[in-house]
Amino acid sequence: MKMHRLLGATVIIAASVGMTFAASAETVAYKIVDDGIPKSLTGKSGDAKAGRKVAYNRKTGNCLACHKLPIPEQQFHGEVGPDLKGVASRYSEAEIRLRVVDSKKMNSDTIMPAFYRDSGFTRLQKKWVGKSILKAQEVEDLVAYLMTLK
Ligand code: HEC
Repeated sequence: MKMHRLLGATVIIAASVGMTFAASAETVAYKIVDDGIPKSLTGKSGDAKAGRKVAYNRKTGNCLACHKLPIPEQQFHGEVGPDLKGVASRYSEAEIRLRVVDSKKMNSDTIMPAFYRDSGFTRLQKKWVGKSILKAQEVEDLVAYLMTLK
């Protein structure tokens, strides 16, 4: 009886692991060169206007939770991270892309979430298993927007 239950649990674990692998097809492979990702994840350049929305939308980027941004119509800006005004004069596009994709590659202790990573998380809520926070297109739109912040 006990054995039977154990077997059931194993099957459930195997099934969810299988799902993770299947869903990880949602993220594309990227290559880090120096401390950046030189190539667009989508192969195209993003849309800065859409990226501005991704940045302040509390359900997508929610960058305002931790950063100040030149988005005056939004009320609450965070101060945990650096002010992103002028970020494009401090970093190249490739460096900005890597910081949005997975800033933990630069600083493993950072509290900034990896926005484009679908595995290696601890204590992940079930609904996020196998899914990155942002889609490749949203990352590129954000990068295009951040590149306007000179
Ligand atoms: C939970 C807080 C948090 C959130 C949410 C967050 N960040 Fe960050 N971010 C940080 C912190 C803290 C740093 C400082 C660097 C570090 O910790 O390694 C940082 C650094 C950065 C940097 C490097 C800037 C610099 O001047 O060094 C960029 C670019 C950046 N974040 C972009 C974003 C974008 C775009 C979003 C939204 C998609 C975002 N961050 C969401 C906390 C956050």
